[in-house]
Amino acid sequence: MHPLLADAAFRASRYLADVETRPVAPAPAALAALEGFNTPLPENPAAPAETLRLLDELGSPATMGMAGPRFFGFVIGGALPATLAANWLTTAWDQNAVLYRASPGVAFIEQVALRWLLDILHLPPTCGGAFVTGATVANLTALAAARHAVLARAGWNVEADGLFGAPPITVIVGGEIHPSVAKALGLLGLGRTRVVPIPVDAQGRMLAEKIPPISGPTLVCVQAGNVNTGAIDPVAEICRLAHAAGAWVHVDGAFGLWAAAAPSRAHLAAGLADADSWATDAHKWLNVPYDSGLAFVRDPHALQAAMAITAEYLPTQSEFRNPSDFTPELSRRARGVDVWAALHSLGRSGIAQLIEANCAQARRFAEKLAAAGCTILNDVVLNQVLVSFGDPGRTQRVIAAIQADGTCWAGVTVWQGRTAMRISVSSWRTTEADVDLSVAAILRAAQSVA
Ligand SMILES: Cc1ncc(COP(=O)(O)O)c(C=O)c1O
Repeated sequence: MHPLLADAAFRASRYLADVETRPVAPAPAALAALEGFNTPLPENPAAPAETLRLLDELGSPATMGMAGPRFFGFVIGGALPATLAANWLTTAWDQNAVLYRASPGVAFIEQVALRWLLDILHLPPTCGGAFVTGATVANLTALAAARHAVLARAGWNVEADGLFGAPPITVIVGGEIHPSVAKALGLLGLGRTRVVPIPVDAQGRMLAEKIPPISGPTLVCVQAGNVNTGAIDPVAEICRLAHAAGAWVHVDGAFGLWAAAAPSRAHLAAGLADADSWATDAHKWLNVPYDSGLAFVRDPHALQAAMAITAEYLPTQSEFRNPSDFTPELSRRARGVDVWAALHSLGRSGIAQLIEANCAQARRFAEKLAAAGCTILNDVVLNQVLVSFGDPGRTQRVIAAIQADGTCWAGVTVWQGRTAMRISVSSWRTTEADVDLSVAAILRAAQSVA
């Protein structure tokens, strides 16, 4: 194995060095060369080194430079060095992070990572938690616990009896709900659109005063980090209203939950800890490799009731936490180890620095682009910047020119009826110099389109 793994490490290191300087989007020729993969199924084995060579030679050039410092298209962090290395080692361990007795080492490390996460995010230390694939499944997981709890309080066992004949659940959401939360609600039988939508302000924040009187089993889904503006709902006020009526408050904090870890942004996170459940991503702002989402639930028993299963052949009896008691999956990779590595290698101060640096870089983008005559459509409170270059057609053409130039990559969105370029800054690799290089490229593209 050694020469093969050394070759993989060499190729990966070379890739990560190249990604600093190569165009962010793959060249058309590299995409055309993907046809090299399009062969019939091999009849016979290939040498592993040959498999790796082909993957690197054809695959690497066809990747988007998401691991690099100037990909601003989605909220995407590059894997931190310690997390990439830990991920490789964990893959070599090849553990099934299912039960303590099956894989005690990773179950133990994940338990530590969970404790550290609750600490850094200022959430109650007794929460239950799950390491899942991403915020979509984290929302699903937390909302399954919520569904369990509100129906149990109404005398209904949803895990045993399903939703047929169950007391109806009212679901209140902000008008800017992320579609992945709607999807989670649909998967749980609560309906993607069978919700009470609450109007939002110009930044996408729910208007708490518009929440109607609450009665009966009710879930309120709030958002920490609007995918366009970065805005965070007034969670403290919403929790006060909802809890007075016995409702459950769930926070979709795919990236915005991390505001709590940065002293200068913590005011935005006020009240987040009052909620009942939270979903976030580690593969976004914590900069760990895909796929890595996190669900936290104040009442661990509600999460366990929704997720745990037993079988004669499974060694589920354990004095330690069984990871699969809290996750939709039974078998899964030990993704919590990558999270542990991020938290261990950065520490509290390193994480605060990462979040604050990205927020400062977003402000730098906004200030420089505004000074050059571009219109910034949002209050830049976190890591999101929305830029208009004029009418929708022109804005789209400028974005296409930026993507073709390759210095950086940002995508298009429509914010409250206005077409905009969306810049998300979330990588540990991004520096002020990267922002300045990108601003220059953006302004060049804007001029070329004029
Ligand atoms: C606010 C919000 N919620 C949920 C998600 C879904 O996250 P994932 O793609 O990790 O499932 C995203 C992704 O961008 C998001 O921004």
